[in-house]
Amino acid sequence: MITLGENHIFMKIAVFSTCSYDKDFLELLNTGHELSYFTETLNLQNVLLTKGFDALCIFVNDKADAEILPKLAENGIKLILLRCAGFNNVNLEVAGELGIKVLHVPAYSPEAVAEHAMAMILTLNRKIHKAYNRVREGNFSLENLMGFNMLGCKVALIGTGNIGKAFYRILKGFGCQVSAFDPSPDAELQSEGLKYENLKDVLNDAEIVSLHCPLNEDTFHMINAITLKLFKKGAMLINTSRGGLIATADVIDALKSGQLGYLGLDVYEQESKLFFKDLSANIIQDDLISRLISFPNVLITAHQGFFTKEAMSQIAAVTFSNADNFCKGLPMNNELLN
Ligand code: NAI
Repeated sequence: MITLGENHIFMKIAVFSTCSYDKDFLELLNTGHELSYFTETLNLQNVLLTKGFDALCIFVNDKADAEILPKLAENGIKLILLRCAGFNNVNLEVAGELGIKVLHVPAYSPEAVAEHAMAMILTLNRKIHKAYNRVREGNFSLENLMGFNMLGCKVALIGTGNIGKAFYRILKGFGCQVSAFDPSPDAELQSEGLKYENLKDVLNDAEIVSLHCPLNEDTFHMINAITLKLFKKGAMLINTSRGGLIATADVIDALKSGQLGYLGLDVYEQESKLFFKDLSANIIQDDLISRLISFPNVLITAHQGFFTKEAMSQIAAVTFSNADNFCKGLPMNNELLN
């Protein structure tokens, strides 16, 4: 149960998917809660570990679905603290029925993800990943390294929330021509000159398409064999949002045919079995990611868009403020409701 300490109220919190850097920032900014760290990703097999805790602190690949949530409730969990913005891994309806509160960190440095998206574009465009390896091997040739100017380049943003907005401003700084699709256009961005169009038109026209919308029933596999045909031939696709936005097999076909000219992924639909782990001594069983890695015009990073010290501090600070508000019965601005 929530405990009254000498000076404050605190909870027993089980932290899942803990990496060394999570622990460093959580320890630094802990407001007095009792934290237990598990390196495991929360799933049906290890849900027993949550017994005796008041709250869970989980990340993008921990599952809190309709099967796991009742077991969490049985084990006494009253609060789920997501140390991320996206919440597609939590069934909010079932959590609500069980009386489990779910709080997230809505924006912890949108610039971190936006800057990573730009890093991916520049790397793919100017082939920095190839140049780095070439020069290390004494190969100073420029053959096949030609890129294109970002000035005047047509970029489509799918989603202009916190991250899309930060990215728009970076793209403007580069002199790109930006258009966007978002069912809820942002008036501030419109006043800064952003043009909103329908999805078909933004995909048709763009040399670079960057995804910044959430994963939900409407957006699942929004990039598929049909929508890929709407892309300009040879366009670049960047996904720093959620892997499920893309039908991976269709994207592989588009890369093979040349319909897609470049692909930058910071997220991958089956990432929970791969990302955040060192599998360098293992045989990778996922044939789709192995195929993607084999393309010279594909760049994959393992969900590191958020990973700056500023963002990590913000995630830890907001997570503890969420926990404290729950304990003290204060308004919970970051509560996720179904
Ligand atoms: P946000 O909630 O501020 O913005 C999302 C925007 O997408 C909203 O403007 C919304 O109207 C729009 N949208 C909703 N449905 C759409 C659709 N069908 N088509 C186009 N736009 C649509 O979210 P934020 O903070 O900008 O994050 C975007 C996504 O980035 C998150 O959902 C999360 O999945 C991902 N993310 C990835 C990180 C990484 O490390 N790679 C870190 C943080 C977030």
